[in-house]
Amino acid sequence: MTCFLLTGAAGFIGSTLTDRLLADGHQVIGIDNFSTGRQEFLTNALKNPAFTFVEGDLLNRDQLLKAMQLMPVDFVYHLAANADVRCGTENPRKDLEQNTIATFNVLDTMREVGVKNIAFSSTGSIYGEPDVVPTPENAPFPIQTSLYGASKLAGEGLIQAFAEGFGFSTWIFRFVSVLGERYTHGHIYDFCRRLQSNPTRLEVLGDGNQTKSYMYVQDCIDAMLLATAKTSNPVNIFNLGVDGTIQVRDSISVIINRMGVKPELVYGESTRGWIGDSPLIHLNCDKIREIGWVPRLTIPQGIIRTLDWLLNNQWVLKP
Ligand SMILES: NC(=O)c1ccc[n+]([C@@H]2O[C@H](COP(=O)([O-])OP(=O)(O)OC[C@H]3O[C@@H](n4cnc5c(N)ncnc54)[C@H](O)[C@@H]3O)[C@@H](O)[C@H]2O)c1
Repeated sequence: MTCFLLTGAAGFIGSTLTDRLLADGHQVIGIDNFSTGRQEFLTNALKNPAFTFVEGDLLNRDQLLKAMQLMPVDFVYHLAANADVRCGTENPRKDLEQNTIATFNVLDTMREVGVKNIAFSSTGSIYGEPDVVPTPENAPFPIQTSLYGASKLAGEGLIQAFAEGFGFSTWIFRFVSVLGERYTHGHIYDFCRRLQSNPTRLEVLGDGNQTKSYMYVQDCIDAMLLATAKTSNPVNIFNLGVDGTIQVRDSISVIINRMGVKPELVYGESTRGWIGDSPLIHLNCDKIREIGWVPRLTIPQGIIRTLDWLLNNQWVLKP
C-alpha cells in the first residue's frame, strides 16, 4: 500500500483520482481549499478510513506541512491550480500565485519532510501556438500566449530543478482538455448552462473553427498511473490526449443534438475565443501510447458522457 498526498483532491480530476487510488487499496491524504472544488465529490472518499482530508490552502505553508506530516507520504499528485485559462488577464497575479508559487510551496515542503516523488498536472497550453502539430513533448521551446500556460511552464521548471537539486523523481503530464463525470468548467459546462436558460440562441466565443483535443477523465488517470508505474527517470514528461481533434462548431452539434435543442448559433469573428485561446491544440501522444496506454473513449463519446452527467447533476450547473 502506497500513501499518496493529493493537492486539489476536491476538484474534477483530483476527486476522481482520489476515488481510483482508494479503490486500488491505497492510503490517500487530500488537501483542498474548495476554491473550485466541491464537497460533494468527496462523499464516497470520506466514508473510507484510508482517506484523510485536510481543508487547507497551498499558499499557507503551515497547513501544507501539517497535511504532509500526518503520516509518511510516498508520492504527491499536485493537481491543485487555478485551472481556468480564460481569466488570466483580468487578474494577472492569480496564475502566478495559484500555479507557480503554490507549486514551489508543495516542492519545498516535500524537501522539508523528505518526500521525493511528485506528479504534476501541466497543460498543452504551455505550447502556446506551436509550429509543430501534432506537438511532441520535445517541440521547440514554446512562446507563451497565456498567463496560465506561463505559470504552469514555470511550475514545470521548478519541478525539474528540484529533480536535479534534491534528487526528486518527477512526472509532468501535459493534458489536453479533460472531460467526464464531475466536469465543472470548460466549454461543455458553459454551453449546457446557457442552452438550458435559453435554448433558442447560443453565442459562441470565436468563429467556431478552433480545433481542440479532449480526453476522458478515466483515460487521463489510467495514463498517469501507467506512466508513474512504468517510467523512472528523474524527469518524465508526457503529453496526454487522444489522437483526434474536433472543431468547436462540431462539438456544438454533438451538444445540441444530445440536448434536443435547435438554437440560432451566433459566432464571433476572431479565430480565438479569448486572449490565450489557441486556435489549434493537437498533441502528439505517441510517447504515452508506446508504454501501452489506450484511451477508452473518443472525443464525441467523451462529450456525450460529460453532457449526460451534467444534465443528471443539475446542482453542478448552479453558480
Ligand atoms: N480540466 C482540464 O481540462 C485540464 C486541462 C489541463 C490541465 N489541467 C490541470 O489539471 C489540474 C486539475 O484540474 P481540474 O479540472 O480538476 O480543476 P478543478 O478546478 O476542478 O480542481 C482544482 C482543485 O484545486 C483546488 N485548489 C485550487 N487552488 C488551491 C489552493 N491554493 N490550495 C488548495 N487547493 C486549491 C480547488 O479547490 C479545486 O478543487 C489543474 O492543475 C489543471 O490546471 C486540467
